[in-house]
Amino acid sequence: MFRSTVSRQAAKALSQSSRPAPFAAPLRCSASNTSFRPLSYTIPRSKGGKKDPGDSEVEGRFARTDESVVIEYPNDADMPRTPIVQGRGGMHFKRTLAQFSLENKVSLVTGGARGLGLVMSQALVASGSDLAIVDLNREEAEEQAQKLVEQFKKENPGLEQMPNVTAHYADVANPDSVNTAIAEVISKHGRIDHLVTSAGFTENFDAISYPYDRMQKLWGVNVDGTYLFAIGVAKHLMERKAPGSMVLIGSMSGAIVNVPQPQAPYNAAKAAVRHLAASLAVEWAAHDIRVNCISPGYMLTALTRKILDERPDLRDKWTSLIPVGKMGTPEDLMGAVTFLLSDASKYITGADLRVDGGYTLT
Ligand SMILES: NC(=O)c1ccc[n+]([C@@H]2O[C@H](COP(=O)([O-])OP(=O)(O)OC[C@H]3O[C@@H](n4cnc5c(N)ncnc54)[C@H](O)[C@@H]3O)[C@@H](O)[C@H]2O)c1
Repeated sequence: MFRSTVSRQAAKALSQSSRPAPFAAPLRCSASNTSFRPLSYTIPRSKGGKKDPGDSEVEGRFARTDESVVIEYPNDADMPRTPIVQGRGGMHFKRTLAQFSLENKVSLVTGGARGLGLVMSQALVASGSDLAIVDLNREEAEEQAQKLVEQFKKENPGLEQMPNVTAHYADVANPDSVNTAIAEVISKHGRIDHLVTSAGFTENFDAISYPYDRMQKLWGVNVDGTYLFAIGVAKHLMERKAPGSMVLIGSMSGAIVNVPQPQAPYNAAKAAVRHLAASLAVEWAAHDIRVNCISPGYMLTALTRKILDERPDLRDKWTSLIPVGKMGTPEDLMGAVTFLLSDASKYITGADLRVDGGYTLT
């Protein structure tokens, strides 16, 4: 981690011609007659010889958070809708391994009414699975469930058997609500084989000013919500003595610290999700239940598009740090989630699959 931070800083420094020449005045050690570079030697710019942490010209400025970036997660009514993915899937004339199929499976996706959860839901339906969308926003979940079946019909003309796609309400942070939703899904579909936990959100406040109630809510949805659904579905699988596969949606923020937006609680929450996947994978391996994590990088959902339209400076900073040079699309997760749920990955458990355009490598 230290090495990667250093190399990122070095690359940024070299690309900035306007920066004061960093190698201009190496200090000399007269005793050994060798020159050395102390850890930090930028001449302090502010008064009193003290560096101002907010000074944008200091060393390390590209690898720091900026407390002026404050982004609140919007109220439900202000949330943009996610369009169904069109023009993909369709009749499969290209041969592929049967192991990737999810035919005759029932998958449950939390947070499936929007964003990444909705597009991953579509991937599961296109791969042959029945689907239960579970979301705080039941109305939107119902609307999208209907659209998913319509899209499937369009892409598979002549197919008689349509996927069974249902919509259910749950607040993933509330144990009673989670148990009620799981029972409802089982009563509608007969069983659950696969789980994807995509309900989650992020907000940006600096750590000192983070409103405590919002922080608790963030951890409640991202961590408790993931945990509660995982144990609820695992219990059901164990009772049936059936194999199962789960994908917990983490984030690259569980492995690195994003800049410039401050988001310490979110980063910690996503680190928890990643290690929860590994821990549950070990605990449930003997029950034939696999648990993996997908850690997306910056993905262009309807919500992130809205945020970036208002903050184009963030888009520039983010893309400048992604080796492939662009943000991901929700469709980039379709193959990853199908792979990890299907038998194509049946010897993979506890893994963290980073879908981040190489962000976490540098
Ligand atoms: N978009 C990105 O760039 C990105 C990157 C990395 C990780 N992620 C993670 O992916 C997941 C999905 O993110 P997204 O961008 O699709 O977000 P989104 O806001 O577009 O969708 C989240 C969905 O979760 C639902 N939800 C929120 N709180 C809930 C609750 N308490 N109970 C039930 N449902 C609830 C929302 O109604 C919504 O349908 C999140 O866990 C997020 O942290 C997103």
